[in-house]
Amino acid sequence: MKVTVVGAGAVGATCADNIARKELATELVLLDIKEGLAEGKAQDMMQTAALLGFDTKITGSTNDYSRTAGSEVVVITSGLPRKPGMTREELIGTNAGIVKGVAENILKHSPNAILLIISNPMDTMTYLALKATGLPKNRIIGMGGALDSARFKYQLSRHLGASPADLNAVVVGGHGDTTMIPLIRYATWNSTPVSSLLSEEKQKQIVADTMVGGATLTKLIGTSAWYAPGAAGASLVESIVRDEKKLISCCVAVDGEYGQKDICIGVPVVIGKNGWEEIVDFKLNAEEQALFNKSADAVRNMNDVLKTLNVY
Ligand code: LAC
Repeated sequence: MKVTVVGAGAVGATCADNIARKELATELVLLDIKEGLAEGKAQDMMQTAALLGFDTKITGSTNDYSRTAGSEVVVITSGLPRKPGMTREELIGTNAGIVKGVAENILKHSPNAILLIISNPMDTMTYLALKATGLPKNRIIGMGGALDSARFKYQLSRHLGASPADLNAVVVGGHGDTTMIPLIRYATWNSTPVSSLLSEEKQKQIVADTMVGGATLTKLIGTSAWYAPGAAGASLVESIVRDEKKLISCCVAVDGEYGQKDICIGVPVVIGKNGWEEIVDFKLNAEEQALFNKSADAVRNMNDVLKTLNVY
């Protein structure tokens, strides 16, 4: 099993590190445009193999896509990260050209690859990858909901004093500070609805803190977060390469599901060897559906910017 991670910045390198530690691939290629960066980080990671005991062979490449040939899964993290005070949406002009070029280069050498999109604005970059490559929709997956759901579980765990691993909670909608929808009505602590354990006020706080999870970190660190985004990317790689059929919220092309069409947006999907294999209908109530529709409108407005950029 060969996996490629494009972009050896903090998110890409962390994703690669997680993939190696979990031995999700026999061969892992890290690629970046910056001379030497991917080679250096790949070597650094390989020097942890003796300490951590993993068997994945990691190599780095400066923009030589022939080295990625035959990859089954490719994680795309390329593009600029957010700076403090910046929205993910502001990155669209710069990152659209980068993501399109990366996807095209990858497919020249790995025509059967499943593409995982992490670059921001993630919903629009996922839609762009779909439109620009013409790949079957099941092979294009945006990572946002996996990350946002993990952040939701973190916030719930703090307030409940619970282990994050004991929590079931999902975020749907766009991967934006105002577009994501943490579905607290569905969240459970080992089957007990958290709504029966937390006051209305606490629930509102948890939802609000989840939504600005990324922005909070960007402010603290000075750039986008990477540990959870990298781990979220690797968790999707894991469900694909092990054909786990995990139900994970991801940004995928909906065609009538959740009342939306011609858009990539976060919904619960089954992830396995074919990419995303099925959308699961969580039966939103009227209030949640209204939020979802509003979120879709915002994502669609962002997608419209792609038309002015002439990138597909
Ligand atoms: C975040 C970026 C990766 O949410 O979108 O941290």
